[in-house]
Formats: sequence, C-alpha cells, structure tokens
Amino acid sequence: MRKPIIAGNWKMNNTAQQGVTLVKELKPLVSNAACEVVVCVPAIDIPAVAEALKGSNIALGAQNVHFAEKGAYTGEISAEMLKDYGVKYVIIGHSERRQYFGETDETVNLRTHAALNAGLIPILCIGETLAERETGKTEEVLDRQIEQGMKGIDDISKIVIAYEPVWAIGTGKTATAQQANETIGYIRKKVAQTFCPKCAEKVRIQYGGSMNAGNCKQLMAMEEIDGGLIGGASLKSADFSAIVHYDAQGLKLDKDLL
Ligand code: PGA
Repeated sequence: MRKPIIAGNWKMNNTAQQGVTLVKELKPLVSNAACEVVVCVPAIDIPAVAEALKGSNIALGAQNVHFAEKGAYTGEISAEMLKDYGVKYVIIGHSERRQYFGETDETVNLRTHAALNAGLIPILCIGETLAERETGKTEEVLDRQIEQGMKGIDDISKIVIAYEPVWAIGTGKTATAQQANETIGYIRKKVAQTFCPKCAEKVRIQYGGSMNAGNCKQLMAMEEIDGGLIGGASLKSADFSAIVHYDAQGLKLDKDLL
C-alpha cells in the first residue's frame, strides 16, 4: 500500500514572513490528514518555516539542491545545508528548471544522488512538453528521463516521482484523470523494467499540473496516482487543505475530466 503524498510547490512565492503566516493557517487545517503533507518552499524561507512547522504533521521540502557536497559554487545550496534545517524532501528536475536554468537529465541524476546520499527524499519531476505529446514522443521522452535521470539509484522506492506534463503546469489545463493514470501506469512499467518490479510497485508517483480542489478527487481516485505536486493551489491555505482532504471533495462532473 503506497501512502498518498500531497506536496505544495510554492515556487518563487512568499517571503519568509508570508510563508510563516501560510503554514500557521495550514497546520490546524491538515492536522488530521490521512496522506503525507509536504510544503516545498524557497530556500531563504526554510529557517523560518522550519520553526513554524515544529510539532506539526507537515514535512518541509526544498525546491532544488546542488550536486556537490560543498565548494566553489556561488549561489548554490548543498544537501547538508538543507538537512541542517530538518528539510526532508527536495524537488529535483522541475520543468521550470529544465526550461529556464539549463537542467539536464545528467544534472538531475547528480542532484538525485547527492540528495539520497545526504538522506533527503528527492521528488524527481518528469514530463513531456505539448509538442512532444502531439508528435507522439511522450514515451520516448519519459524513457530517457527515467533511464538517465534515475541512473544508478539502487532502491528507486526511496524517491518520489512527479509526473508533470509541461503543458498542464500553471495553464489551468489538467491532464484528464484517464490520461494521467495511463501515463503514470506507463512510468511504473518502465521503472519496473529498468530497475525492479518490486520497487516499481512501491514507488510513489504523483501527478502535477493545475491540480486543484475541483479535480483532485477524481485524479486521486485513479489507481496509479499516488499524490499531487501542487503549484498555484498550494499558495492559499484553504485551497491546499482542500486538496489534502481530496476524499472529502465533491466530484467535479466535468466532461473534460472523465
Ligand atoms: P501548477 O504547478 O499546480 O501551478 O500547475 C505544478 C508544478 O509546477 O509543480
């Protein structure tokens, strides 16, 4: 049984003070959550948010980590520095980092190993662009991201995979629950072939891309979907807690989602 994991990705939003206010609102709203709850915050917010989260069931996550242990990497942050503040999860290879900051499968792989070596749990993001989906390249792209980005990981069930179709991020365009389930099923099959079937059964795979209070129940009801990586809807406590309590939401009878 895979424990569902709902993670917020604040991206470049919220000063430390705003972040503290948000998690203080969130804490009582999600204290009885059945799933694992994570907030991935800007690096500079980490000390204050870590303090505010003390004694709660919300785990702290970062949005990136450098692959070297330490050294001459101006502007970067190491896994040890994150661990020092009680960070548990770290997003790696988000499509925005691939698109705007030159992240490649090779650097994703290096960062993943650095995170695992330090005892952090990577949330490794993969997903195709619209052009790739429309030209029938989805599986080829996912194969490459899995083979190269996850190379050398001895127990793949120690990471969380986030399937985020790039065309669904921040666009309000969600993959249909069916589409997301099928693609995540494909990812699990590929992970089984590349690594081991047992680990593939255990590894948690989230869906990410315009997930919200209206569509979370239907997405989370899908067999292969083990959680969500939530951008925009994680910035308001009411919206995020509604997703954390996805089972309690009304089913949105939107034909798009069926
Ligand atoms: P979104 O972002 O929920 O705003 O689409 C998801 C993500 O990029 O992780």
